[in-house]
Amino acid sequence: MIQGGLEGPGQTGEWSKGDSGKLLGEIQHLRDMVDNLAVIARVSRGDYIGQGVAMDSTMIAHDAVIDWRERMEERELPVVIELDASPKDAHVVVDQARLRQAVDEIIENAVDAVLHAPDEPAENNVITVRTAFHSDGHERRVALEVIDRGRGIPEEDFSVVQKRFGRTSNDPHPSGGLGLAVAKNIVAAMRGQIEIRNNQPGPGVTVAISLPYVEDPNEEVGSE
Ligand SMILES: Nc1ncnc2c1ncn2[C@@H]1O[C@H](COP(=O)(O)OP(=O)(O)O)[C@@H](O)[C@H]1O
Ligand SMILES: [Mg+2]
Repeated sequence: MIQGGLEGPGQTGEWSKGDSGKLLGEIQHLRDMVDNLAVIARVSRGDYIGQGVAMDSTMIAHDAVIDWRERMEERELPVVIELDASPKDAHVVVDQARLRQAVDEIIENAVDAVLHAPDEPAENNVITVRTAFHSDGHERRVALEVIDRGRGIPEEDFSVVQKRFGRTSNDPHPSGGLGLAVAKNIVAAMRGQIEIRNNQPGPGVTVAISLPYVEDPNEEVGSE
């Protein structure tokens, strides 16, 4: 499209409205990809994630839910965003803005998954943002989870989707394939991990960010 757009209409200087719209859409898409690749490169160079600060994960989840409810209203999308954040003092040491970027990528995917789920009824257009304590055997951790009831991710794609340009086989409109890679890199720089699980019972998936729990937030500074 871009090549066609530049070569074709350039001859006469005239583009139809439709062509211009398509071209601008493609350019925006490329910009997003370049931005995402730059984020991944900067995270690995070590100058993207700022100083970690102790934060209550429940507050982070709460803020995300409020923002996403507004976004759904603005975009006039019929998706309900719920908060399930009961644990108290579930502190983590993070760069809050960057963690939110990761959470936003995950919620964006969940929105797409519920809206483009051919086999799911509209009442499944619900996304829950949840916080919980969990343990990985030797360390207490905090999970920030995004649970959707969307089209799901085939299990064989779980690791593919976290890689750069990874997409699922059931993605109805494949795009950059960089959102989860961005999220994974950001979260890893804060000593966190991302885990994907099928919901039991289904439909949909839970994408969980797991971060080390900080017992005494006043003593903790620095995430790396
Ligand atoms: N919650 C989800 N449910 C279903 N598919 C998902 C979900 N999250 C991610 N995916 C799929 O995983 C792939 C990778 O997602 P992502 O890295 O964000 O790239 P993008 O959204 O740009 O295609 C995409 O094919 C996307 O549709
Ligand atoms: Mg995405």
